[in-house]
Amino acid sequence: MKEIKIAVLSGDGIGPEIVAQAVKVVDAVAAKFGYKVEYTPAIVGAAAIDAVGDPYPESTHQICMAADAVLFGAIGDPRFDNNPEAKVRPEQGLLAMRKKLGLYANIRPVETFECLIHKSPLKDEIVRGADFICIRELTGGMYFGKKQEPTINADGVEEALDTNYYTRPEVERILHVAYQYARQRRKHLTVVDKANVLASSRLWRKVAQEIAPQYPDVETDFMYVDNAAMRMIQDPKFFDVMVTENTFGDILTDEGSVITGSMGLLPSASTGSSTPVFEPIHGSWPQGKGLNIANPLAQILSVAMLYEYFDLKEEGMLIREAVNASLAENVRTPEIQVEGAPKYGTREVGQWIVDYIANK
Ligand code: IPM
Ligand code: MG
Repeated sequence: MKEIKIAVLSGDGIGPEIVAQAVKVVDAVAAKFGYKVEYTPAIVGAAAIDAVGDPYPESTHQICMAADAVLFGAIGDPRFDNNPEAKVRPEQGLLAMRKKLGLYANIRPVETFECLIHKSPLKDEIVRGADFICIRELTGGMYFGKKQEPTINADGVEEALDTNYYTRPEVERILHVAYQYARQRRKHLTVVDKANVLASSRLWRKVAQEIAPQYPDVETDFMYVDNAAMRMIQDPKFFDVMVTENTFGDILTDEGSVITGSMGLLPSASTGSSTPVFEPIHGSWPQGKGLNIANPLAQILSVAMLYEYFDLKEEGMLIREAVNASLAENVRTPEIQVEGAPKYGTREVGQWIVDYIANK
């Protein structure tokens, strides 16, 4: 691949600021390794609602479809958060994008950085060395099942409904993705469900038990989600690859960010049947918008995942090395900076990483 076409969906809040840094990193790596990158910006989220009344307009979808990869910032805006009556919400744009691009597998690595161990509220010895991947199913379950918004029923009681619906093919394909990851790592897969209560989870467990013998080199175990939530903070090193449904994966990966010490450090890749999307797991942090204080590292590490997705391992490694070097040199945004060290902003951290890559 000598030419890379990237759709740039910066979105809301701090999205545009951190994406700007990630784009500079893409460029720095491309210059070094001799790629030509073509960027096409497109609107999404609250910005798109304001512009055209649709958080994921068809024009944006076409741009994503025509690209090799999507670099996605964040979406969300407080104007919609406290308004349950809002008919269109920025989040619907993200969900529509995931569904329309067929992005059923969300890969969320949880790693620790030695120099940030103290930032985790957990004890050093618990988090040091934790390194696992959560494979979150992304286009099924309650997020997309039959819904009913709050309405008054025949008995005069207000009711609402979300359905946790899964089909066998949906479960099978995500399990195969998870096994592939487990094979390339420490060969340990934990299937997280709530099969003691939920019928949909019993489907997951049944399908997983059937598939497991196809991967005899991988040790498979099963864990209820409540237990997994506890185990993750009690003994995160237990996990290598975990696979779970959409809603559980959403919750567990926010919990996972606590292990790392900052939400601003976790990247993700969403992959499936068409253009993959690379995005940080954190949100749009409207309070930080325009202040040059947002941590660009999760977005920059998403660029590493982008290159790695195309099997450009050296390129990904260089970005990871640059990020590690910036942390080691205390070139850090305020929320992870050590006492007394100079404060760096979003742009300064981004530029430092770009310079590191260029001078390497
Ligand atoms: C995430 C986010 C989204 C989700 C929101 C913004 C819709 O929390 O990517 O984890 O729930 O999937
Ligand atoms: Mg989430």
